[in-house]
Amino acid sequence: MDTYYDTYYIDGKFVSEDKATLSVKDITVLRGFGVFDFLITYNKRPFRLEKHVARLENSARHIGLELNHSNKEICDIVMQTIERNPHHKEDNIRIVYTGGISPDGVTPQGNGILMVMVTPKHELPDWWYTQGAKIITVDIERFIPQAKSTNYLSAIFAQQKASSLGAVEAIYKDKDNRLLEGTTTNIFAFKGTTLITPPDGILPGVTRGAVLELLEKKYDIVLDFIPQADLADIDEVFIAASNKEIVPVIQVDDTVISDGKPGEKTLALMADWNAYTTAYGLGETE
Ligand SMILES: Cc1ncc(COP(=O)(O)O)c(C=O)c1O
Repeated sequence: MDTYYDTYYIDGKFVSEDKATLSVKDITVLRGFGVFDFLITYNKRPFRLEKHVARLENSARHIGLELNHSNKEICDIVMQTIERNPHHKEDNIRIVYTGGISPDGVTPQGNGILMVMVTPKHELPDWWYTQGAKIITVDIERFIPQAKSTNYLSAIFAQQKASSLGAVEAIYKDKDNRLLEGTTTNIFAFKGTTLITPPDGILPGVTRGAVLELLEKKYDIVLDFIPQADLADIDEVFIAASNKEIVPVIQVDDTVISDGKPGEKTLALMADWNAYTTAYGLGETE
């Protein structure tokens, strides 16, 4: 079998993944100071690329990181990096903007490095979507939750706990026991024909935005936090993110949601999502 190396963009050059290097003095390495964003392609068309890059810019503003590329420049570089990886059927795209090298190790100098890593998209287990997934909650609130920063210590910590309990995701919970968002997903709940999802204090997911657009005419949408104590009376729960798309949730900690099967509104949304993203990949919709 032929071995293909992926091609990455790093600091002005396209390089093979095995030749991709970053200075050990970069404060992304030393301090976890940097931002990133993640998206996938449908039919090799990056999903809502400008929105993901706008969120990268927003993340940078929130942490005080200066970017030296415009939204358009970053989008163009992403498109070129996709073109240089024709051996993937579909792509995972990771855009990283590092903090750069700082003489004192703590003061950013506005010399960060842009990296675009394009890797093959990998499929998640089928049973997540057919049987539904179990998730857990953790008593953690993210620092600057509006930013997707390269410091995901809380996510790694919470994910380890989730895996050890046979759960696919961990949901951050605030001090009032309200569910906020997952380590890499946004959370939604259906109660009757009302769809509830937290309003703020979360990363504004691009998938979340697209889901709300798809469902705004179908259901009443309430932007509010979901108290953990309400889960026993909730009809359906699902999580959404770029790489996972829409995952039905059948259990949160020890609480089984309804009859413990993926809910019908979630299943309908998954079908709508599939139709919408297929049309997106064909360039038929934005
Ligand atoms: C903390 C957090 N919330 C939500 C999301 C979902 O965002 P998106 O739908 O843009 O992938 C992510 C994505 O990784 C995330 O890291």
